[in-house]
Amino acid sequence: MKNKKIQILGISAYYHDSAACILNDGKILAAVQEERFTRVKNDASFPRNAIQYCLSTANCEINDIDFIVFYDKPIPTFDRLLLSYLSIAPAGLPSWLRAMPLWLKQKLHLPQIIRKELGYEGEILFSEHHEAHAAAAFYPSPFQEAAILTIDGVGEWATTSYGIGKAEKIDLLNELHFPDSLGLLYSAFTYFTGFRVNSGEYKLMGLAPYGKPIYEDVILDNIVDVKPDGSLRLNMEYFDFLGGLRMTSHKFESLFEGPRREPETKISQREMDIAASIQAVTESVMLKMGFHIFNETGMEKLCLAGGVALNCTAVGRLLREGPFKEIWVQPAAGDAGSALGAALLVWHRLLEKKRNAQDENRPFSPYLGPSYAQDEIKAFLEQKNVPHHLMDAGNRAKIIAEQLAAGKIVGYMAGRMEYGPRALGARSIIADPRGENTKDRINLKIKFRESFRPFAPAVMQEKAYEVFELDRTSPYMTLITHVRDQRNMYPAVTHVDNSSRVQTVATGNKKDFHDVIKAFHEMTGCPIVVNTSFNVRGEPIVCTPDDAYACFMKTGMDTLVMEDTILFKEEQPPLKEKTSEAGASETEIRSIRKSSLTFAASCMVPVAIGLFSHRMLLSLIFGLLACAGLAVAISPVFLKPVYQAAQFAANRIRLALSVLVLTVVFYTIISPVGLFLRLLGKTPIHLRPDAQAKSYWLNHQPADKENLYKRF
Ligand SMILES: [Fe+2]
Repeated sequence: MKNKKIQILGISAYYHDSAACILNDGKILAAVQEERFTRVKNDASFPRNAIQYCLSTANCEINDIDFIVFYDKPIPTFDRLLLSYLSIAPAGLPSWLRAMPLWLKQKLHLPQIIRKELGYEGEILFSEHHEAHAAAAFYPSPFQEAAILTIDGVGEWATTSYGIGKAEKIDLLNELHFPDSLGLLYSAFTYFTGFRVNSGEYKLMGLAPYGKPIYEDVILDNIVDVKPDGSLRLNMEYFDFLGGLRMTSHKFESLFEGPRREPETKISQREMDIAASIQAVTESVMLKMGFHIFNETGMEKLCLAGGVALNCTAVGRLLREGPFKEIWVQPAAGDAGSALGAALLVWHRLLEKKRNAQDENRPFSPYLGPSYAQDEIKAFLEQKNVPHHLMDAGNRAKIIAEQLAAGKIVGYMAGRMEYGPRALGARSIIADPRGENTKDRINLKIKFRESFRPFAPAVMQEKAYEVFELDRTSPYMTLITHVRDQRNMYPAVTHVDNSSRVQTVATGNKKDFHDVIKAFHEMTGCPIVVNTSFNVRGEPIVCTPDDAYACFMKTGMDTLVMEDTILFKEEQPPLKEKTSEAGASETEIRSIRKSSLTFAASCMVPVAIGLFSHRMLLSLIFGLLACAGLAVAISPVFLKPVYQAAQFAANRIRLALSVLVLTVVFYTIISPVGLFLRLLGKTPIHLRPDAQAKSYWLNHQPADKENLYKRF
């Protein structure tokens, strides 16, 4: 009898950017973020759509899964939360009231929620947050052994960890603990400069080259104490994220000549200088960490993960000026990538399966999401009656290149969708990088976003070294480098400092995309195209043909390519907005229908009683009510306002009760205990730098395979 293959499902959820990944005997079959299905950017909800996609790709049912592994341990995270409130109570009530209901309702009951959501009966495991990041960074890398550095906002207690990966073994050695976090420090500046925390960090990085790092010393002298080994401690007088709903305190403002920039208001030179300053601090911290880790581990290669690893300017500098010969950053380096990391940890650590590093002929592929066959796309377009043209395979690249050469902006959808935040030629908007106004056109007419941010170039790998100061490939767009020619030949993809976030495209990793750039090069002599994600501001990257067509029609895009089909804007009829009954959601409508039918059916009982007992009035009244119920079931829009009002009232009552109980707990237990501890001089977490300390690194408790079975 053939041995059954082992299926592992990795899940990340409930913080930001939920995702799922499935391994089949260690092979990555699928990995995708939930936001791509729900169309809610950075969706943190339970990734039921992503899981469904993983299961269908693996052609299995939920109970064929041998292990489900969650990317984080909920109990230590809850512990960190409680100790944070104890450190600041009686301040912090608004944040307490916001955080606790979610914890009490969901996060503390993860196994039950996973079982209920999925109907799953098998084993549920929990990896440590930074172990999952480390696994996501190391296992898919091309290195047989390497140092590992994971830096994010926070996961359980850890904010940064480093260690060693060798074959299938990962040993984290040291870590920094909350609230001492490079990620949270960067996010505080993201907040202060008016961008959205957890998604606007790359905007701040994009703003940095426009400013001068005039506040670098101010930051290092007041806000963060950085030791020579790269370990750091924040001065919490300047932050409010422990118990407030803001990232920074009023004292923070005094260092930067005024309050934070209100979102969507004009960006001034001050914000640019602040961006340059925090970027400089981040880079110098990462360099110090790099040298320390190099000395501690003796490894010449480094794998990076965690949200801060997506700061490709800092990674580029670490590569140029740091001690490592090679650095590898997993394209889904943030929490979404940890669904993959957690699953790989089960495969290699728990099941002790051997690992062979990926190599040039077998590189890690980020194309792990849904794809749509030409037949499906054709059927979609025909059903919608959308004008389109079929390209034959021999002419496909040439036809698309002609569009680019004519200055058209092209939506490009081909093959499996990318895992992680970058569009790498499967769901991209592409254009000629030489046009003076290309950047502004894409920014203002398509992306509807700030004009300062540059686009990334996708370059033919064989030409990359001629155009850019590159000495290695960058297939995942995780490296920043500089254009060799200083004459600003590619204004759409170069920053003011001549830097570029490059994607090198080879036939081996994305042949269809390479063919298009190659055809464009043959036509124009330019081996580069603009490559930006296929979405509009505030929306996730498109996933389906429906998403792609809607985005194409709602923006100033000129041409849409979906596999071998091409659509021209001038041939398209106006887009009809999708509407459902009176704007009600499908779920609401289903729920109203169900309730109305139940109501109508229950009314039939008194009708029957009335008929048998000759009480015609009773039968008449309930008969009319049953008819009303049926009418609402047929057209639910009649009852929608009543339904919504009842839901609103029920929610308000529930909320009021929960606020009351939680407030009582906060002031009768948390605040007195916190105050008492502080009276004894014991603050549960560090709030101030320690000038005497040589280092803030703490030992990481070794995690064995048993650790995966624990929620703590
Ligand atoms: Fe993380």
